[in-house]
Amino acid sequence: MKLTWLGHACVALEGTKSILIDPFVPSGEIEIDPDIVAITHAHGDHMGEVIALKKTTVANNEIAKYLAGKGIDAVDMNPGGTVEVEGVRFTMTQAIHSSWLEAEGPGYYGGLAAGFVITLDGISVYHAGDTALFSDMKLIGELYHPDVAVLPIGGRFTMGPEEAMMAAQFVGAPLVVPVHYGTWPKIEQDPVAFKAAVERTTDIRVTVIKPGECIHIG
Ligand code: NI
Ligand code: MN
Repeated sequence: MKLTWLGHACVALEGTKSILIDPFVPSGEIEIDPDIVAITHAHGDHMGEVIALKKTTVANNEIAKYLAGKGIDAVDMNPGGTVEVEGVRFTMTQAIHSSWLEAEGPGYYGGLAAGFVITLDGISVYHAGDTALFSDMKLIGELYHPDVAVLPIGGRFTMGPEEAMMAAQFVGAPLVVPVHYGTWPKIEQDPVAFKAAVERTTDIRVTVIKPGECIHIG
């Protein structure tokens, strides 16, 4: 499987199917044509180009309802549940974060913010979404044994590097990819310092990639 970080929280997983998580990139240009889109929560920096992409989209009930109204083939679920779409498994996990759907007028409540464990071609990727650290990340590790954890490290709106370091240990995935940093000054962080701190104290490897770059897993 190929994992590409397109910037911010936008990650593509490509194997026998291609999945795009949180299709927002600062440039607005998404160069991957996915089979399936997954949305962790309703904030604009995660919904991004979801409507323009017009793909089957996995999201919570509130977002799915909104997207269905826009003509999108939306697959609704809620934290704790699993759906299989075109042979790809999506388990929605808890996240501690807010979720407001910016739409016409004042917008809508976006339901619970979430993360996903996505299993494609036998490889599991945990994308935490936007979240604070929570100790039940241990359960995500115990239940789903993700091969990779994609964790926010930007701080302010999500975990910062210190919390993400503990999140990496709770989840226990052998590989961590930091995201949701550096997009704007408010979430500026040093991913290399994060990598050094994690790798100095644990057996977990951190791969720092630049937007547009990919890694191969499995
Ligand atoms: Ni958010
Ligand atoms: Mn965000």
